[in-house]
Amino acid sequence: DWTMGNFIEMEINKIREQVGDKKVLLGLSGGVDSSVVGVLLQKAIGDQLTCIFVDHGLLRKGEAEQVMDSLGGKFGLNIIKVDAKDRFLDKLAGVSDPEKKRKIIGNEFVYLFDDEATKLDGIDFLAQGTLYTDIVESGTETAQTIKSHHNVGGLPEDMQFELIEPLNTLFKDEVRALGIELGMPEALVWRQPFPGPGLGIRVLGEITEEKLEIVRDSDAILREEIANAGLDRDIWQYFTVLPGIRSVGVMGDGRTYDYTVGIRAVTSIDGMTADFARIPWDVLQKISVRIVNEVDHVNRIVYDITSKPPATVEWE
Ligand code: XMP
Repeated sequence: DWTMGNFIEMEINKIREQVGDKKVLLGLSGGVDSSVVGVLLQKAIGDQLTCIFVDHGLLRKGEAEQVMDSLGGKFGLNIIKVDAKDRFLDKLAGVSDPEKKRKIIGNEFVYLFDDEATKLDGIDFLAQGTLYTDIVESGTETAQTIKSHHNVGGLPEDMQFELIEPLNTLFKDEVRALGIELGMPEALVWRQPFPGPGLGIRVLGEITEEKLEIVRDSDAILREEIANAGLDRDIWQYFTVLPGIRSVGVMGDGRTYDYTVGIRAVTSIDGMTADFARIPWDVLQKISVRIVNEVDHVNRIVYDITSKPPATVEWE
């Protein structure tokens, strides 16, 4: 009988046999797949696993902490955290073209990962959270070439690793079930899709620390209220964006001239097509009031009611 429990036991045996007493490297992104691989490998080979987590400073509120507290703390993974926020902001300064921003973030990510990896001695294996669908769909990503989808990855060219891909027979829902079976927190297991370039493509145009903070804080409020309304499993992806336009508002007796925050929330199966989520007005109102009250320099909220196509899910 195939059960998740059996799968874990078989997978652990397989990993132990393959790895022996050698060492394995894993890149953690904060996402579901690499996290599940990490916890599974930790169960199988313990300290023979080393993880590298490059924090580009473009994650959502609390996510880097969650990786360190949950995976590093509770699950005891050995994680090397690379705090690269300033470095990424430096490289991105003055850059407003979306594809250029993606390239910079992707390249810098690989560079920092490789740099850290080459400092480690005697690593023989590289683990990856490749899913079954990643394999069968590779090479057929035509529609997605509209945007270059830069993900975690890239091997140091002069390093020879053997790959370990324990999820490559599984679908996404099975990976989530596996995560739950391994005792991982629901917030991590049910994490909504999040792009590799992170908040870097949700601050439209040039990225500044102030704008990042507006997106990060407004996004946190949105997520909290969507969860409060019990909608977090129904909406495929939801986030805020900062278009960078400012408009006139009024607060007290004063006129304000501040930023507009856009809310994007879509239902979808795979992100290839999407429809805007029909969030109840009162939930939207609560989100709007909270963002304007709690996030400095925001005086207007708009809701994106376009489907994909013709719009994309992200605004960049
Ligand atoms: P779009 O905006 O193309 O988004 O309709 C479809 C899905 O892809 C995600 N996305 C990205 N993921 N790197 C990623 O890893 C990227 O550069 C990127 N751009 C979009 C988006 O969040 C949505 O889930």
